[in-house]
Amino acid sequence: MKAKVAIVGVGNCASALVQGVHYYKNSNPDEAIGLAKYDLGGLKPYDIEFVAAFDVDENKVGKDLSEAIYEYPNNTIRICNVPKLGVRVEKGAVIDSIGKYVRDVIKVSDKDSVDVASVIKDSGADIVVNYVPVGSVKATHFYADQALKAGAAFINAMPVFIASNPDWQSRFSNYGLPVAGDDVMSQIGATVLHKTLIKLLVDRGVKVDETYQLNIGGDTDFLNMLEEERLMDKRESKTSAVRAMVPYNVPTRIGPSDYVRFLRNEKICYIWIKGRYFGNSPVTMDIKLSVVDAPNSAGVMIDAIRGTKIALMRNISGPLISLSAYCFKHPPVQMPFDEAKIAFMDFIEGKRDT
Ligand SMILES: NC(=O)c1ccc[n+]([C@@H]2O[C@H](COP(=O)([O-])OP(=O)(O)OC[C@H]3O[C@@H](n4cnc5c(N)ncnc54)[C@H](O)[C@@H]3O)[C@@H](O)[C@H]2O)c1
Repeated sequence: MKAKVAIVGVGNCASALVQGVHYYKNSNPDEAIGLAKYDLGGLKPYDIEFVAAFDVDENKVGKDLSEAIYEYPNNTIRICNVPKLGVRVEKGAVIDSIGKYVRDVIKVSDKDSVDVASVIKDSGADIVVNYVPVGSVKATHFYADQALKAGAAFINAMPVFIASNPDWQSRFSNYGLPVAGDDVMSQIGATVLHKTLIKLLVDRGVKVDETYQLNIGGDTDFLNMLEEERLMDKRESKTSAVRAMVPYNVPTRIGPSDYVRFLRNEKICYIWIKGRYFGNSPVTMDIKLSVVDAPNSAGVMIDAIRGTKIALMRNISGPLISLSAYCFKHPPVQMPFDEAKIAFMDFIEGKRDT
């Protein structure tokens, strides 16, 4: 049984995902670093097949997916060479997805946009993965709608609220389709580290007084996020993940903070936490985390895709609760990471419904 996937947005994350599926094809199952399990509910990484792809960039539209993933302005690392996939990147609909800073970098293809729902349907895709840029509210609504029309499940890797929005949850339930999201939580990224540290401090009886998390990077994602007006959902997504770990209000500032071109796809995160423990004694933490951004989310997405395929095979529809809590920053139900992992594994083993 294959999970047939249509990708929307062939940027750095899509590149890492497509490369990752190929990379793990011939790997030793014991060395499948970055996956919840090599065999997840009977599905191996190579049971993911890419059958359709959409973008709007003239450098990518019309190319085979295996070539488009390495095209400028993508700048993540190459972990392997991907052979020709026989999947042509089609032109989707631009709508509100190209922000004012990215306009200088991405030239929109002058080819005609395709009928996205028909392409998804004809490709046989049963899952659509959404990777459009931050702030693309209307474009994300458009692609979620196209997935519904095509009868495909939807995984929303970016921070516009679909899986965590009650109206979209009902729409997917009414169509008998699962939905997962929102905003993928990287394997060892700023969010999981920050929320786990805050949870540890709270569990150990520390009173957290203030915290911030500042992030910088040099890819188009960070260039786009210079536009503060596009960031509302991104800040909410990242902040809510951390706030949910504290049973009281803490002054918090979290979000993307600058674009530093020469960092390319390296992301640097600074986490600061100030609190008090026994006898009001002060404690501070000042942490710097440095990662390559796109591969950090790819293993999580391989798990999310396989989990969504399992939901489809079980005829489960509507929001996938445990999968979203495990794989995403802004899920329908927020959980500490250890709890989310147990819930997700219970779901995979059929011990819970969603
Ligand atoms: N670890 C991570 O990298 C991570 C974690 C969480 C969330 N995200 C989110 O995932 C999304 C993708 O991240 P990325 O690093 O791949 O970004 P990216 O900028 O490299 O890729 C976005 C791609 O979408 C394409 N695109 C733009 N408008 C489109 C449209 N209307 N239709 C189809 N394609 C369109 C662009 O041309 C580009 O290829 C972003 O929203 C990002 O914030 C990434």
